[in-house]
Amino acid sequence: MFEEDLAAERLVMSTKGELDAEENALRPKTMAEYVGQSKVKENLEVYISSAKMRGEPLDHVLLYGPPGLGKTTLAHIIASELGVQLKLTSGPAIERSGDLAAILTNLNEGDVLFIDEIHRLNRSVEEVLYSAMEDYALDIIVGKGPSARNIRFTLKKFTLVGATTKAGMLASPLRDRFGVLCRLDMYTPAELAQIVTRSARVLGIDLAADAAQEISRRSRGTPRIANRLLKRVRDFAAVGGNARVTVEDARYALRRMDIDELGLDDTDRGLLRALIEKFGGGPAGLETLAATINEDANTIEDVYEPYLLQLGFLARTPRGRVCLKGGYEHMGVKMSEKQRAQISIFDEE
Ligand SMILES: Nc1ncnc2c1ncn2[C@@H]1O[C@H](COP(=O)(O)OP(=O)(O)O)[C@@H](O)[C@H]1O
Ligand SMILES: [Mg+2]
Repeated sequence: MFEEDLAAERLVMSTKGELDAEENALRPKTMAEYVGQSKVKENLEVYISSAKMRGEPLDHVLLYGPPGLGKTTLAHIIASELGVQLKLTSGPAIERSGDLAAILTNLNEGDVLFIDEIHRLNRSVEEVLYSAMEDYALDIIVGKGPSARNIRFTLKKFTLVGATTKAGMLASPLRDRFGVLCRLDMYTPAELAQIVTRSARVLGIDLAADAAQEISRRSRGTPRIANRLLKRVRDFAAVGGNARVTVEDARYALRRMDIDELGLDDTDRGLLRALIEKFGGGPAGLETLAATINEDANTIEDVYEPYLLQLGFLARTPRGRVCLKGGYEHMGVKMSEKQRAQISIFDEE
């Protein structure tokens, strides 16, 4: 088992020390500090309390939603509220089923195993997970051909927390083994302002209230972006010699980063522009669109589109992406009658 223990060490990051210190300081540590997502939070609190009362591990939890909305943070909080250890790994890091077996046999009773990007597990690894999740058992085939035997190991009871940006890509046998499904939604500007204000306090930044609001409005509903913009605004203000960060500092920094009034950047605008100018507003297939603007299709789908969809600037249709009225208006392009007619079925007005 020695070699496998080493493999487990390599695949599982400890919860301490791996993250950049500033990033770590910004992560809320308790449910109470975790802003927004009230429904998810309230339900999880019930499930956690109940599991503790019964002295049982929490059911397996699947967290899904666009990047930067707080999935990893929530996994940390779940483990800490349960009073157990968290082991972190990710789908692409687990290459062989033996790797997963090593991780699972190293868990302690009640531990939380966090698998990020769980949609990227390969098939053979995923199959090992099924019996582990369902029966806390590992089925391993020893030997080859007629002499092959199935050996079943019993595992300590644990909680799997999986995170994914693509819940639709999970095989249904895997999805069905999660007892708790939580979808994280984009945050409101008011919630983001609360997050930015807290982050400023943690980082020792003197941030005016209207500056916090300006950053929040332009953070695409995403805490990770809000924190990143806060740090860049701080940089511009500091270099400009300002101790207190004002709304003017925030606007200046955002202009320098080419982030517009709604928080869209060059890539968002490039995508809308390509749709309008090269594809007559669409529909255009994701891959074609990605090649046109020289961006990775996955990144467009995971990172850029969720906010454009939320704004109602874009629609995903069976025949491809379509630019909607709001998208035209934001780009300052007048729609032709033909385009207006074409998109009227997608635009809810
Ligand atoms: N609900 C929240 N309240 C406060 N800060 C948050 C919240 N969710 C996320 N954050 C901040 O945003 C950053 C990104 O969150 P993370 O959990 O890494 O997102 P994900 O795993 O979904 O990509 C974290 O470092 C944290 O500081
Ligand atoms: Mg994460």
